[in-house]
Formats: sequence, C-alpha cells, structure tokens
Amino acid sequence: MTGFSAAWLRLREPFDRLARSAALARGFAAAVHRQAEGPLRIVDLAAGSGANFRALAPLLGSDQDWLLVDHDPALLTAQRAEIVDWATRHGWRWTADGEHIAVDTGQARWRVRGLRLDLASELEALERIPFDGLVTTAFLDLVSATWLDRLGNLLARQQRPLLATLTVDGRRTWHPPHPADAQVLAGFTRHQGVDKGFGASLANEAVAHLAAGLAGHGHAVTTARSDWRIGPAQQDMLRYLLDEATAVAHATAPAAAAAGLIAGWAAARRTQLEGGLLSLEIGHLDLLALPPRP
Ligand SMILES: C[S@@+](CC[C@H](N)C(=O)[O-])C[C@H]1O[C@@H](n2cnc3c(N)ncnc32)[C@H](O)[C@@H]1O
Repeated sequence: MTGFSAAWLRLREPFDRLARSAALARGFAAAVHRQAEGPLRIVDLAAGSGANFRALAPLLGSDQDWLLVDHDPALLTAQRAEIVDWATRHGWRWTADGEHIAVDTGQARWRVRGLRLDLASELEALERIPFDGLVTTAFLDLVSATWLDRLGNLLARQQRPLLATLTVDGRRTWHPPHPADAQVLAGFTRHQGVDKGFGASLANEAVAHLAAGLAGHGHAVTTARSDWRIGPAQQDMLRYLLDEATAVAHATAPAAAAAGLIAGWAAARRTQLEGGLLSLEIGHLDLLALPPRP
C-alpha cells in the first residue's frame, strides 16, 4: 500500500485542476466522442477519491459511464462522499443505486462506479472491461518501466485513447533560492525512484518512456506542461510540501542532515512561509496518446 490520504488528494485537487492542459483534454474528448456509440465509457486508473472524474466529466459533456479503479479501500469509500459533495455544490441531482452513483446535471447523466483492483498485478483484468478511453492522473510517476510497457501493450491491443495527466518531471523550484536547495532536491529525486509496488519507479522519466513505447505502437503522442504554481498565500499546500521535502531529505540525504544543512534549510523555509515570502513551482507533464485511425 502506498498510502495516499483523502485529505492530501483534496488539498492537491484545485492545483491539479488549474495545471491541466486544456488542449490535451480537448484532444482526448474529441477522440473518445469519435468512437463511442452510447454513453462514453471511461476507465480511470488509480482514481483515488475521484478527482480525475470531477475534472474531466464536465469537459467530456455527454452521458458517461465511469469506472474508478484503485487498490485502496479507504479511497474507494471516499470517492462516493467526494462525488456527492461535488454534485451537491454544483446544484446537480445525484442518486445512489447499489454500487453506482449517478449525477444528473440536466444536460447529461454521469454514472460512476469504484472498482478495487491492484494495478500492479491485475492491470490486464481491464482487457475484459469494454471502454472508449483510459485516463489516469498523478499516478505514472509511481510505476516502473516494465509496468508502463504493460500499459502500452494494453492500449495497443485495445486501440483506445489515453489521457495521463500530472506526472512529475523533476522540475521543482523554491523561491527565493537557498544554498541547500540542490541537496534537498537530490534527496527527493532518490526517494522518487523507490519501488511503490510496481518495481523501481521511473518517476521523472515515466512520461518519456511511455511516450516512446506508445509511439512505437503507432499512437500519436502529444505532451504538454501542467506545472503547479504555488503562491505565498497558499500556505496549507506550501506547509505540506515543505514538511514532506524536509522528512524525505532527512531520510535520503544523511550526510547533509548530519551536517545540519537540512534543518537549516527547513528553518529558513518555515520563516519565509510564515512571512508570506515563499513560493514553489513543481513541473508536471500531461500526455495524450491517440491510436492510429482505422
Ligand atoms: C497520488 S494518488 C492520485 C490519486 C488520484 N488519481 C488523484 O489525482 O487524486 C496515487 C493513487 O495511486 C493509487 N495506487 C497506488 N498503487 C496502486 C495499485 N497497486 N493499484 C491501484 N491503485 C494504486 C493510490 O491508492 C492513489 O489513489
């Protein structure tokens, strides 16, 4: 279990929504509409509490059937509450029918169901589920090269479009600069390569690897930047990321930690945070892959 809390996913959701490439989302929408006959059938890999559904369903527009796949039962439970809360805030009607939730906007009807699946061992189970498009967000940096090759093979067999958003690419810039930034970043990068249940994570190289694999299968692949820009007023997000970076640097850069460099960095950053002087940019990439037209 990789252990992502619903609270963290809720904190990051607005930053993800702002950062997403609108052009790639439009390209995905056009491709799935071209091939679907009834309601669009979309599968979301590692859906967490359903942020990808909430970002994409309004853009896709028409009637839709979503399958939100995750291995974490707590997040699968959180999906329902988050979706109901979101629909209510928008003034949309929703109904719960067994394992489905249906959101009725007046213009369109979106049916959503969660599915517990360990994608490390059971990715290929999706072959038995018909879908018009595959999506995933904030996930591909957790997986290995071998797993990305399996995903590429699945898409090649299914000939379906993929929209994979918000994969980190290694750019991480704190403002103002600090002399220990490079050591903190190096520790963070080492930590990203750790096995998260899929084999050694490709992390910052994941998008390039998947793009090359899918292009090899004849898919038309486009990537676009989807960076987080976290300003001085966004204190909760900055505090979370500062605490995370500090903990990771302590664990992965023991020499710098023993020399007091990490504690000094964290104290300086905390002072800047509280003084409204700190900001951070984190680089991500979105990827759209379209199968060759028949
Ligand atoms: C960073 S979170 C992103 C969640 C969601 N896509 C979002 O953007 O809010 C990564 C997700 O991967 C899921 N995950 C990790 N390992 C998994 C596995 N082996 N099988 C299925 N889901 C997994 C986690 O439970 C978590 O929901």
